[in-house]
Amino acid sequence: MNWEEELAVAREASRDAGEKLKRLLGRVHQITRKGKIDLVTEADLEAERTIVEAIRRRFPQDSILTEETGEHKALPERVWIVDPLDGTINFAHNLPFYAVCIGLQVDGRLVLGLVFNPCMGERFEAREGEGAFLNGAPIRVSETKTLVESLVATGFPYSVHEDAPTVIQRLQKVVTRVQGVRRAGSAALDMCYVAAGRFDAYWEEGLKPWDTAAASVIAREAGGRLSDYGGQPYSPFLNTVLVSNGLIHETMLEALRLD
Ligand code: IPD
Ligand code: CA
Ligand code: CA
Repeated sequence: MNWEEELAVAREASRDAGEKLKRLLGRVHQITRKGKIDLVTEADLEAERTIVEAIRRRFPQDSILTEETGEHKALPERVWIVDPLDGTINFAHNLPFYAVCIGLQVDGRLVLGLVFNPCMGERFEAREGEGAFLNGAPIRVSETKTLVESLVATGFPYSVHEDAPTVIQRLQKVVTRVQGVRRAGSAALDMCYVAAGRFDAYWEEGLKPWDTAAASVIAREAGGRLSDYGGQPYSPFLNTVLVSNGLIHETMLEALRLD
């Protein structure tokens, strides 16, 4: 299987959703709170509708797991995992750094991932066994071997007001060992930047399957290593995620371990 048709649908859906997001940037009027700092805007909903309709049109039997409207259950063997807008807080503040994420899981394997940043015109994509690409050109993780030479990224979970002590403890352990830490506001783009060798590693906790599923295929196919903070192999349903170029994975795991 090379998932050619699925990729074509994901490309078209992400392009249309991305266009809508770009048009709505700076024009959002309805912001609802899902939690104290967790938002949903009309743009999230509009982009999600566009993607779900595109998938339904071509693959009406497939299941679709989405952030905003939950699970559209059908065939359990094929599940699309969709985040229509990763980086909602950036979007709500008119910061042009966010992405559309579309992943596909078949028989429990993540086989396709597409992450599109409409403002920068960057489309990251990968299919199982085929490598990872940025706008059609192959990408690879970096070859950085030490933390002190590494530029790494992280994100703060929506529970950070309550969980600050452990989040900050880990941040302190990493920031005092690496060249730099970035917090850009989109988990999916952070992971794709590891895939493209821009970042050497990325870690975060409290993530949901739609934040990481699509980007995990891209990071994996670009030669990256993915696990939870304990070193267990990545699954989109685990609570913690570490993605790296592989070479600094063990030292990052060590840095993230709390005594
Ligand atoms: C969020 C972003 C953010 C990360 C949060 C995610 P959303 O997704 O990826 O960078 O720190 O943990 O939930 O809510 O903008 O789709
Ligand atoms: Ca997200
Ligand atoms: Ca989202």
